Amino acid sequence: MSGLFICFEGPEGAGKSTNLQYLAAALRSAGCEPLLTREPGGTPVAEEIRELLLRQHSEPMASDTELLLMFAARAQHVHRLIRPALARGQVVISDRFTDATYAYQGGGRGIDLQRIADLETWVQGSLRPDLVLLFDVPVDVGLARARARSTPDRFEQEQETFFRAVRDCYLQRAAADPQRYRVIDASGDLQQVQQALAPVVAEILERWHA
Ligand SMILES: Nc1ncnc2c1ncn2[C@@H]1O[C@H](COP(=O)(O)OP(=O)(O)OP(=O)(O)O)[C@@H](O)[C@H]1O
Ligand SMILES: [Mg+2]
Repeated sequence: MSGLFICFEGPEGAGKSTNLQYLAAALRSAGCEPLLTREPGGTPVAEEIRELLLRQHSEPMASDTELLLMFAARAQHVHRLIRPALARGQVVISDRFTDATYAYQGGGRGIDLQRIADLETWVQGSLRPDLVLLFDVPVDVGLARARARSTPDRFEQEQETFFRAVRDCYLQRAAADPQRYRVIDASGDLQQVQQALAPVVAEILERWHA
């Protein structure tokens, strides 16, 4: 038995967490009970690493440190939570996963993408998301939403060029693998975004039944 692994991706303020709850409710009303999780984090140890990653420190964090901490958290998450749930046949929905590492540490920080690919294979083996929902939003719109919501974390304090590179990387990855990615225009109001999600909800339920 193997479940379905769905990841929500996109920049800060795109609406991932909001729409993840919406998707989960839609699945539950059809009798499907998804496991909801997030990255970095998802288990107690991985959540401690998250705190380390998001908090401001008195010394700047080196890009390689950031990358390795992301994968350290992911190793714990994959081993303790994601793989066991998929093995039980569950639908697992993660708020961010490895695409975010390509976009932020690759696109944003400029780390060689091959290094990220090597770590991906090391930590995940052949595990990849079955479906990635990319919430795409212009950089200024996303940042304005995120900043209106809460005080900026270590990533949210980056400059606009960083977020442009993040967005470009996400869009390139989606364009290269249209089977796996669904790009959702997240610039409209919530009702419009949720309308755009309707075919995705139907697709997930279909694949879950299959
Ligand atoms: N389509 C939308 N229109 C207007 N506001 C929105 C929309 N989607 C989300 N918001 C609001 O914008 C803020 C950010 O949304 P949310 O937390 O879901 O984004 P996120 O992608 O999870 O961000 P982060 O990466 O920072 O966690 C929230 O206050 C949310 O209510
Ligand atoms: Mg969120």
